[in-house]
Amino acid sequence: MMKPIPTGPCSRFPFENELSWSKNAREFLLRTAQKYGDICKFRLRGIDLYFVSDPELVREVLVTQDKLFVKGLGFERIRPWLGNGLVTSEGEVHKRQRRLLQSAFHRQRIEAYAQTMQEEAEKACASLQDGQAIDLLPFIEDVAFRIATACMFDENLDAERPAVIQAMRLSSRYMDAVKSYSVAALWRRWTGQAEKEKWEAIRLLHTMVDGIIASRRQDTEDRGDLLSMLVLALDEEGDGKGLSDQEVRDQVITLLVAGFDTIASSLTTCIYLLARHPDAEQCVVDEMAGLLGGRPAGFAESLALGRATAAFSEAIRLYPAGWLLPRRATADVQIGDYLIPENATVVVSPYVNHHDPRYFPDPEQFKLERWPEQRGGLPKMAYYPFGAGSRVCIGQQFAWMEANIVLASFLQRWRFEPAFDGPLPYKSTMSLRPANSCPGFIRKRT
Ligand code: HEM
Repeated sequence: MMKPIPTGPCSRFPFENELSWSKNAREFLLRTAQKYGDICKFRLRGIDLYFVSDPELVREVLVTQDKLFVKGLGFERIRPWLGNGLVTSEGEVHKRQRRLLQSAFHRQRIEAYAQTMQEEAEKACASLQDGQAIDLLPFIEDVAFRIATACMFDENLDAERPAVIQAMRLSSRYMDAVKSYSVAALWRRWTGQAEKEKWEAIRLLHTMVDGIIASRRQDTEDRGDLLSMLVLALDEEGDGKGLSDQEVRDQVITLLVAGFDTIASSLTTCIYLLARHPDAEQCVVDEMAGLLGGRPAGFAESLALGRATAAFSEAIRLYPAGWLLPRRATADVQIGDYLIPENATVVVSPYVNHHDPRYFPDPEQFKLERWPEQRGGLPKMAYYPFGAGSRVCIGQQFAWMEANIVLASFLQRWRFEPAFDGPLPYKSTMSLRPANSCPGFIRKRT
């Protein structure tokens, strides 16, 4: 016997839900889950959203019944950037792409990227000075970008870096403008500024990536980077063919966008939270001193740094970059005792599940001691910062390794001292990231 899906928050005046969402979408969803339970339905921007928050039901959406869902809401908007890459493709095309890309993320390849990550992290951290005023967010973005491009293209792209980072920022500003109901966002939409920025960003990214692909097609040698793998890959299990230039471009931009912003936001969050929790930071640094004694971390060391891993786990529990995962049902789907109709938009939220006090007592607190001890006792979808099922993040090993390597290079030398009181503001659009900046000072670790 099916149960009716409870009706969630209803607007008492026009656009009430939209305004609450615009003000703080995360709080809106947390309140909704607390008040209406494991699943509910509410209206937002003319669409009925089915919000699933019970971990077992989330598992059905993302894992056990994932064939009955495609990516939903918002993904059409990012298609002009990402084309038909791994994040946006569906069905057989997605399966083929996943097969082709998987080898770029095999353990051996990941191990080989460690050296590159270490060199880039060391270079960036060695350039800092005691007492220097810094905005942590662009500093970490810069490190993450250098690492991404060095691992992907075997090049630093020093000349292009500022413009491409700017293109990434423009794309996220565009997403803010189309998703937000703030006066500034409405104004930018109305004046066409948002649309103009979107096309500027797209042109810039396409020009840069097309140039790199064209020059790489000239040489057939495997340089060990991700681009070589994409250019040389053949679909052995499928049609035996490789990727076209257009497909390579879509994948490169997809990996750059999916892998750069997420890791930059998460690492900034982690360093910031450690700065606010000196005991936890000391614990991470003591472990580094014991294992590394001031040396940078490589692949093996990055796996051994349990306290750094705990800090990063906690940072992406509190602020998961992929905080909201939308899907669209391609048929009527039974989820638990509920029937979700064909074409319905379903959302699940790692952010909401990660703040559930049943699984994370004092959910707002940053506590290293949750990890790894607690992990074994959690239901599967109580913690899923990298998603799950067939669309699980392909770059998660890459991200864990990069996090510990950068943390080791930074924390063994420096302390970050925030130059503001109160919490770091976040914004939640397609991804959850620090809203603007994270100002502070660099202090030498003694
Ligand atoms: C802390 C860092 C990261 C976080 C929190 C994160 C999170 C996620 C999440 C939640 C998803 C699933 C989205 C969904 O189900 O709709 C995802 C997918 C994806 N991520 Fe990541 N990610 C991170 C780093 C990376 C890196 C470093 C790369 C690449 C180098 C990457 C590439 C991708 C790709 C290509 C997908 C799409 C996979 C597919 O649909 O088959 N991510 N990521």
